[in-house]
Amino acid sequence: MPHIYIEEVAGHVGQQVTLKGWLYNARYSGKLVFLQVRDGSGIIQCVLFKNDVSDQAFELARTLTQESSCIVTGTVREDKRSELDYEIAVSDLALVHMAVDYPITPKEHGVAFLMENRHLWLRSRRQAAILRIRASLIRAIRNYLDSHNFVLVDSPIFTPAACEGTSTLFETQYFDEKAYLTQSGQLYAEASAMALGKVYCFGPTFRAEKSKTRRHLTEFWMVEPEVAYLQFDGLMDLMEDFLCEIVAGVLAERASDFAVIERDITALQRVVKPFPRITYDEAIGILTAKGQPVAWGDDFGGDDETVLANEFDRPVLVHRYPAAVKAFYMKRDADNPKLALGVDLLAPEGYGEIIGGGQREDDLNELLQRIDEHGLPREPLEWYLDLRRYGSVPHSGYGLGVERTVAWLCGLHHVRETIPFPRLLDRLKP
Ligand code: 4AD
Ligand code: MG
Repeated sequence: MPHIYIEEVAGHVGQQVTLKGWLYNARYSGKLVFLQVRDGSGIIQCVLFKNDVSDQAFELARTLTQESSCIVTGTVREDKRSELDYEIAVSDLALVHMAVDYPITPKEHGVAFLMENRHLWLRSRRQAAILRIRASLIRAIRNYLDSHNFVLVDSPIFTPAACEGTSTLFETQYFDEKAYLTQSGQLYAEASAMALGKVYCFGPTFRAEKSKTRRHLTEFWMVEPEVAYLQFDGLMDLMEDFLCEIVAGVLAERASDFAVIERDITALQRVVKPFPRITYDEAIGILTAKGQPVAWGDDFGGDDETVLANEFDRPVLVHRYPAAVKAFYMKRDADNPKLALGVDLLAPEGYGEIIGGGQREDDLNELLQRIDEHGLPREPLEWYLDLRRYGSVPHSGYGLGVERTVAWLCGLHHVRETIPFPRLLDRLKP
């Protein structure tokens, strides 16, 4: 019998097939046993009628426990009442491994318990759907950048210097010297852009975030495009086009997974160009009018971002922040040197910043001054300064956090469910 995946059953109606998977749930009714079998690609109901199978197979079906692995042989038939529109009329059932006392039962469990058992929790249909959406998002990101001729150039993980401020650095021993886990691949992506023009790096990044929030992981994945000769307005155009395309790509590919997690996707279908663009000054005006306790010069907190995003029906770009709250590498606005050419993209529905980017300081002396102002040591950044010594050009880029984007796409309360094995302030296991 050919082995097929559950996602392929529609092409095998009336045929005998074999499925290899695990028992998700079961129901019994006299001479009938209904097994919900999952195989990673989906879940399907497999029906055993006592008279159609061996006594041995029927007995096995009656005693099979949750998450036991099994091989099912049977005929695919249409069943409009079932969620998948198909079921399997079973002719044979074989045991691969009997699972004893699987800890996650269909009843409700608390988040702490589920997080302890994250390695098993991934098997739930909801978690599997979220991971498929995550995988699709990553594919859509790569497709966009690859098809627009960006070259993938990876940045290192062990680094000698801070990129996003010294307060969230993870320090580690690197033989006889100190090293840090990268907070962002940007500085290296800038070097790559000077070599290859349009580049991106995509990998895990690390921040010793000492606060517990629903938006912060200590290890998260970031894609960081960087483009030589790209200036600030062009950067915002790129961020907008990129986000529209990747959201559309995921929606096209994952409709059934969005249905599994009961995500209303109408808000995502509104992610079309153009996005509203407001300055930091305008944002302060909106926040003040809404009674948020912010003053000019403050960075925005999660609540501020939510209030701002709620003003619009699609993502919003907030640009020209006070230079003092932004990183050392940001170029100043020629019209007002108190402002940095930085831009954050805020997602709707309270998800806040999912992309941060900006135009980079390309003047050597300005950059040296910024490094000193931020109290950063020059020596580990000497190589980076070379980029301003040898053929410096205007350039810009941004970083999109995969987990925050998945949280928004899936409508999840917390980023912990958006990555297979989340790393948080209080969680290093499993
Ligand atoms: O705004 P950030 O800090 O920007 C940078 O790191 C730039 N160097 C990127 C660049 O221009 N190449 O981070 C970018 C994005 C945020 O918008 C957010 O989506 C995500 O990374 N992010 C986090 N996601 C989860 N947990 C955290 N602790 C995060 N910190 C940032
Ligand atoms: Mg940011």
